[in-house]
Amino acid sequence: MNFSGKPSEAQLAPFVGKDVLDIAQFSKEDLEVVMHLAAHYEEALTNKKRLYDMDGKIMASLFFEPSTRTRLSFEAAMQRLGGNVITVAEAAGAQSSSTAKGETLHDSIKVINDYVDVIVCRSPIKGARLEVANAADIPVINGGDGAGQHPTQALLDMYTIFKEKGSPDGLTVALIGDLKNGRTVHSLADALSLYDVKMIFASPEELTMPEEIITSLRGKNIEVEEVHDLDTACRRADVLYMTRIQRERFTDPAEYERVKDLFIMTGRHVRIFKPGAIVLHPLPRVNEIEVEVDAYPGAAYFRQAANGLPVRMALLAMITGNVK
Ligand code: NCD
Repeated sequence: MNFSGKPSEAQLAPFVGKDVLDIAQFSKEDLEVVMHLAAHYEEALTNKKRLYDMDGKIMASLFFEPSTRTRLSFEAAMQRLGGNVITVAEAAGAQSSSTAKGETLHDSIKVINDYVDVIVCRSPIKGARLEVANAADIPVINGGDGAGQHPTQALLDMYTIFKEKGSPDGLTVALIGDLKNGRTVHSLADALSLYDVKMIFASPEELTMPEEIITSLRGKNIEVEEVHDLDTACRRADVLYMTRIQRERFTDPAEYERVKDLFIMTGRHVRIFKPGAIVLHPLPRVNEIEVEVDAYPGAAYFRQAANGLPVRMALLAMITGNVK
């Protein structure tokens, strides 16, 4: 990866005032401007440089579904940029905001819109990103909408692939696990399709990638292969992207029990990897990667989580027009 310096004002101008809702809104050039700016902020973090890009600005983080990395890395990102944060973090059943009184997401966003400069929102409802965007005049970022999209995760995943492998071009990338319900893989497949990659989708039969995503990838001439075992992916891929079976999306607990232990990566798999293969996971993991895999040098999931910070700094600063 060679993203030295900072993107130019002309490169940054088209992002000002934009929402980040869906990965499909990013062209390859856009994606690389984000990578470039993230590398700039990463360097500042490494050098312990104090930043004031978002001095005097406020971010609202509204999380109506559990989150550790996405919420805390957005909040840390805002604070690392010299800005401030207000938060509503509440899963169903443990509410303290007026959603518990029956206020709609639309009304909450409309009000919060007048308090802050940028909103990051996570909702359990697929498609809620549009409701949030429609209610707000200020830039909003989708922090995950149900089984829909998770664009900022896909951007940090791409940043990790650039850092670990130089470029996505020429790679075989396996997306593994709950491809039906996992929003991270829905967004990442789209981001990867901007590059010359081959994709392997490895999942239990019940949890395959939605047909419309496969059709759209094939329409872009991406080679996609669907398999139902982990070994094939481990033998052939340069990037192994593991995911958690998304228990909260199952209506039938028996169905979850049936599939939950089918794709578990162990030391045995590591021994059949291609040389130089890396393992990614958006985290949290449950049991799908055994702890013994962590010692493999290409186990990059904790480095990947750390990359969330500079990538989210880049997104916050660019859409609010505050890159200094
Ligand atoms: C993911 C999510 O929320 O979709 N987590 C994250 O943001 N890093 C993945 C998951 O919950 O399995």
